[in-house]
Amino acid sequence: MAKKIIAAAYGDPTEVLEIVEVEIPKPGREQVVVRVRAAGLNPFDVKVVSGTLGRSSDKLPLSPGAEAAGVVHAAGAASGFAVGDEVVVYPATAAFAEYVLAPAASVHRKPADLGFAEAASLLLAGVTAVDTLATLRVDGDDVVLVHGGSGAVGSIVVTEAVAAGATVIATASPRNHEHLRELGAVPVSHGDGLAAAIDEARGDQRITAVIDTVGTDEAIDVSLELVAPHRIVSIAAWGRADDGIVIVDGSSEQSRHHRREAVEPLLADAADGRIGVEVARTFSFDDAGTAFAELGGAHPRGKFVFEPK
Ligand SMILES: NC(=O)c1ccc[n+]([C@@H]2O[C@H](COP(=O)([O-])OP(=O)(O)OC[C@H]3O[C@@H](n4cnc5c(N)ncnc54)[C@H](OP(=O)(O)O)[C@@H]3O)[C@@H](O)[C@H]2O)c1
Repeated sequence: MAKKIIAAAYGDPTEVLEIVEVEIPKPGREQVVVRVRAAGLNPFDVKVVSGTLGRSSDKLPLSPGAEAAGVVHAAGAASGFAVGDEVVVYPATAAFAEYVLAPAASVHRKPADLGFAEAASLLLAGVTAVDTLATLRVDGDDVVLVHGGSGAVGSIVVTEAVAAGATVIATASPRNHEHLRELGAVPVSHGDGLAAAIDEARGDQRITAVIDTVGTDEAIDVSLELVAPHRIVSIAAWGRADDGIVIVDGSSEQSRHHRREAVEPLLADAADGRIGVEVARTFSFDDAGTAFAELGGAHPRGKFVFEPK
């Protein structure tokens, strides 16, 4: 038997999350069972459990966890993997568990130079970041405004945009401005005075593209004053689609294509340090409620990761 985190109801994660004992899964021919060494927590998991993405009773109990890294425990004959291989699982389902079952297509070899915690924190944010940049075809001629440049997705957006040669202005809280400078962006604070701060940062350059990872009206309103709506890509401003901005979420064929193609380059770039993956804190399953609750509020920069014992 093995441990797994579930939520039997939607609501406050400190109340609805529990640890249950389940059978260790067995792989089909093209499936792999991975002994989880680390599983990355994402805002998506928090939204699913708290019910902000819907409260369908058909989906209960919930088994959260969308990405993990670990060691192959059992491999189907046609999976292409062998027991002992170190792998990353993305997209995963029910990854907050000691063992995760996944189709071989979602299992990727973990570069030896990439730690388990970092590998389990990279891909969901990373493929999303690459998707936003590819959707806007950002290149060295662009001046890009990134809302939420210090976040998991935003940090990779900034890194990749700078690597493409673009000029990058990014919003963050003041405590994260030095981090943005290190990534190569000009930092500005969100909140009061945002428009004036962006104007000062851009000087006489024109903003040509906006990537929003925050979704606030403040971020979208200031962006619509700077560029045409089709040059604004958001991963979070669901309520502003009527403004003509582009929402990307992996549901279109183009978005899925960008994300599939991004996986191997992201793993290689993270392994050799071209992309930094910051792990803020690791948690045991016993502290799942705390981890979810803290990620759902103001939290430190970097990823939260579960490490089953
Ligand atoms: N559509 C998709 O495919 C997709 C995929 C992944 C994630 N998402 C969504 O994208 C969002 C970001 O995900 P993430 O993993 O990057 O989250 P994260 O690591 O928690 O980052 C959140 C960012 O938002 C900034 N922020 C917080 N409050 C703000 C405010 N009032 N105004 C401006 N910025 C603010 C934070 O900056 P400071 O701390 O410096 O203030 C931080 O940079 C989440 O809503 C997530 O669900 C969507």
